Amino acid sequence: MNEDLWLFGYGSIMWKTGFSFDEARLGFIRGRARRFWQGSTDHRGTESAPGRVVTLIDAPGEICWGVAYRIPVGVVAPTIEALDYREKGGYTREDITIEFKTGGTTTGVTYHANTANPNFLGQAPIEHIARQIACSHGPSGSNKEYILQLHHTLKQHEIVDEHVRELADLVDCFSNRLEREE
Ligand code: BEZ
Repeated sequence: MNEDLWLFGYGSIMWKTGFSFDEARLGFIRGRARRFWQGSTDHRGTESAPGRVVTLIDAPGEICWGVAYRIPVGVVAPTIEALDYREKGGYTREDITIEFKTGGTTTGVTYHANTANPNFLGQAPIEHIARQIACSHGPSGSNKEYILQLHHTLKQHEIVDEHVRELADLVDCFSNRLEREE
């Protein structure tokens, strides 16, 4: 690797970078959507009770907004090594084209979990997904905290994502109900 690398974040990377970068810009990728379709057995759930975290799915005609980070050439290799480890629960790196909100494009990479990985859960009724998130906990914290943090971060960037908004509202509702029942 002999040049700076643009890394596109659409999930936890947006609030927990954990790496050095020289620039962060709002942008999107085409033909993809953010969905809570990936099981998490190592961060927001466990092997016996997986949580749900986001991945990118193919969605012709849609776009997925996120934040693109320019990682300086000198730290690209250790940053990628650390992220490959952090996202080892089913995610692989993918080359993409990023379009900046302010105009212009660049090539870059992102992490996504494809349908063939063993932790992929896929689509389910929205109430089912919300219940699973409301009840799951893992070594990195609760799954509820993950979705609320994602929802908050998207709002901060004025990114509208109906899937995340609807789920965050339902998770709030289910977890309040669970607390009342305890
Ligand atoms: C992201 O923020 O882009 C991301 C984080 C974890 C796994 C996949 C993507």
